[in-house]
Amino acid sequence: MRSRRPDFPLLAANPSLHYLDSAATTQKPAVVLDAMRAYYEHDNANPHRGAYALSVRATDRYHESRERIARFLGVRDASCLLFTRGTTEALNLVATAWGGANVRAGDEIVITALEHHANFVPWQQLANASGAALRICQLTRDGRLDLDHLASLITARTRVVAFNHVSNALGTVNPVREIARLARAAGALSVCDGAQGAPHFPVRFDDLGVDFYAFSGHKMCGPMGIGALIGRREVLEAMPPYQFGGDMIEFVHDDRSSWNVLPHKFEAGTPNVAGAVGLAAAVEYLDGIGMDAIARHEQSLVRLASERLAAIDGVRIFGPPPEHRSGVVSFTYGDIHPHDLASILDSEGVCVRAGHHCAQPLMRRLDVPATARASFYIYNDVADVDALVAALATAKSVFAFAGH
Ligand SMILES: Cc1ncc(COP(=O)(O)O)c(C=O)c1O
Repeated sequence: MRSRRPDFPLLAANPSLHYLDSAATTQKPAVVLDAMRAYYEHDNANPHRGAYALSVRATDRYHESRERIARFLGVRDASCLLFTRGTTEALNLVATAWGGANVRAGDEIVITALEHHANFVPWQQLANASGAALRICQLTRDGRLDLDHLASLITARTRVVAFNHVSNALGTVNPVREIARLARAAGALSVCDGAQGAPHFPVRFDDLGVDFYAFSGHKMCGPMGIGALIGRREVLEAMPPYQFGGDMIEFVHDDRSSWNVLPHKFEAGTPNVAGAVGLAAAVEYLDGIGMDAIARHEQSLVRLASERLAAIDGVRIFGPPPEHRSGVVSFTYGDIHPHDLASILDSEGVCVRAGHHCAQPLMRRLDVPATARASFYIYNDVADVDALVAALATAKSVFAFAGH
């Protein structure tokens, strides 16, 4: 794959920056920035509400963007792709709207120990509010879901199984179809957090067998503040709305209201049109490269980084072997606290994340307070891996000097 770095103004302007934090958010290519600017310069108006040509244009841009993004994710029925602020809002939408209407005392909710807080806390809070029991699938020693344990947790009492496509903390890729099949066989709904799936390899929602799939635009070259929840039409139609206000209603009487059709029923208020336009430009850009090529590129960098890091005395890598992992390498280095490590790496121009990665239940099970995490994307190459390895050598000398 040719270097994509020149496509990204921030990276092009900072040639010595080694950005290895794309699991948190990706950099934005010029085509996305240009599309958003062009939208505001030529098409901006409040959509859906105006009878004038400019508002119709804004409405068209919004809906064309939805269709483009739906096509990217293999969603035949674009009205089942609901725009949200991102994965967090999408998962809260399901837990609040569907969960509030369908989960009762005596029911069971199954999640996993691998979840980001965005797919953990909403279900925990639903369990607490409804009196349902929260069941947590445990992990194998190398950070994969224990599928035997998962199968034993899913019973006739299970109402929903929520799990991620890829762990943001370890990079573990989960067998989505198999988990969706287990849930369906028990009559439970399946909810997949795709925040680290959709950006990194081809995803076809209609083939996955899940009821819901959530993702964030900013982790796939799109802007912040836009993402989506994709749902199955029957489930979305049977669910109550999540928020109330403009656009989502059909009729409002003094004492009751009725709801608009999908997707509007779940999109109350003025939508983020420029965000949708930017995300549509992002998926067009990713498709231009090819999601298979992106997956292969990341896989080669993850393998290389894993090998190079494993060869350093004192480095401990968390998570499964690279063939079961997406673009993430999570590690510790001797007894250097990951936050200190990240600061030293930063002084060498290497950006990695350090902390619990919004996965405290996972960190407890790994028995570490934090890890450092390098994550890779289309604009990374071997030079970034070299810089990471060189910066770790600097960290070693700094901490040896400090008496560690
Ligand atoms: C696996 C996973 N789920 C959910 C989220 C939350 O995404 P957002 O903050 O974009 O809503 C993230 C973000 O890091 C994530 O990696």
